[in-house]
Amino acid sequence: MITKPKGTYDILPNESKKWAKLEDTIRKICNLYNYKEIRTPIFESFDVFHRDINDTSDMVTKETYDFLDRSERKITLRPEGTAGVARSFIENKLYVENPVNKLFYMGPMFRYERPQKGRNRQFNQFGVEAIGSSSPLIDAEVIALGASLIRALGLKDVKVKINTLGDEESRKNYKDVLVNHFSKYKDDLCPDCLNRLEKNPLRILDCKVDRDKDFFKSAPKINDYLNQESKDRFNKVLSALDDLEINYELDSNLVRGLDYYSHTVFELEVNVKEFGAQNVIGAGGRYDNLISDLGGPKTSAVGMAFGLERLLLATDLSGKKLVKDSFIHAYFISLGEEASKMSLKLMNVLRIGGLSCEMDYTSGSLKSQFKKADNNNALFTLILGENELKEFKINIKNNQTDEQETIGIYDVYPYIINKLNQNSACQMCNKKENNNE
Ligand code: HAM
Repeated sequence: MITKPKGTYDILPNESKKWAKLEDTIRKICNLYNYKEIRTPIFESFDVFHRDINDTSDMVTKETYDFLDRSERKITLRPEGTAGVARSFIENKLYVENPVNKLFYMGPMFRYERPQKGRNRQFNQFGVEAIGSSSPLIDAEVIALGASLIRALGLKDVKVKINTLGDEESRKNYKDVLVNHFSKYKDDLCPDCLNRLEKNPLRILDCKVDRDKDFFKSAPKINDYLNQESKDRFNKVLSALDDLEINYELDSNLVRGLDYYSHTVFELEVNVKEFGAQNVIGAGGRYDNLISDLGGPKTSAVGMAFGLERLLLATDLSGKKLVKDSFIHAYFISLGEEASKMSLKLMNVLRIGGLSCEMDYTSGSLKSQFKKADNNNALFTLILGENELKEFKINIKNNQTDEQETIGIYDVYPYIINKLNQNSACQMCNKKENNNE
């Protein structure tokens, strides 16, 4: 048996409705915030993600799926959405038409990570990128969009952690004192941190290995090395969040795993025990240099991405049912070949009229056909035998009331519609509406 690659999974039919509902909720929220969808390729040139030889992020150094295509081009499966969107923004000169482009995307990303609960090698992200504005207000708007999604999904115990990495001058000051500090503990640093000490000392703060050591806790904090401009900017972001009544926690060790950030960085964390170690459901920040690093004009930008798998896991754990139980309007049970052919025709009429239906294609027994009607959660079961067919009649059973009647074959559609309308205040009619979910 050929099995799926490690770190991937199938979304089976009983799960896919949840995905569609989540995607639909995301689209509605993006519409409220006026973000427009962008779809970029799943694979890009290697250089889109490997821009900087000093990049120390795990994602870029260890986790990308890189390969040569048949013409020896260096290709990378996208590990995230931001760099591909930035590439497209530059290549399509999106800045010419609009000074600010508010974009969103959804789709699969690929990272060669050790799989565990909430961590896959192929996973799905929803992301937003607001490109073209340096206003602190747009940082707050991006976080507010994330908070709206969390509210819409009914998620509980989600914390927004936020920090600033300041501008280049502030980071330079801070990097110098960090190098000074950590150089004293070279012998105690893990191999990754030793490398970061040379290339990107800020990322040492992101280390999961050294995190609990004393010299780590006594490391200088960025807030003490921010210049006035960076401090003012961050305070404006926080003040806008206060105005929007979004709770946040300041975390001076938050630097994020990607190297392109400057100023605001944030993570949204679910604090539910059952969630496991991978409890960051969404994260993002400002990246004012990425577009120019990729060869575009100097352009400010801020964005955020959520892991859809983690959002669904969080929804399940919050006890929120994203979709109601599915049902169909009519299930046809037919006895004999002629009756089956007629059922197929009748289903066609019902479907044209917007009613969902199904019949048995396996010539099962009467008992097994009734069971299938049940499994499909049919509102009405229609039974067509050879005798009924001769008289152009059909038996119809209302599965909500167990009421059964014999009606004319050509009355099936108006009969069902009438029943659905008559019961406008009852469960049956609610079901009629829910079918469109
Ligand atoms: P990231 O923190 O690398 O940021 O990923 C964002 C989210 O994707 C994570 O918070 C997590 O929910 C999900 N995620 C990441 N890796 C995996 C995985 N292996 N399996 C399942 N879920 C995963 C970015 O990707 C940035 N591009 C975010 C951003 C957008 N910054 C600015 N704009």
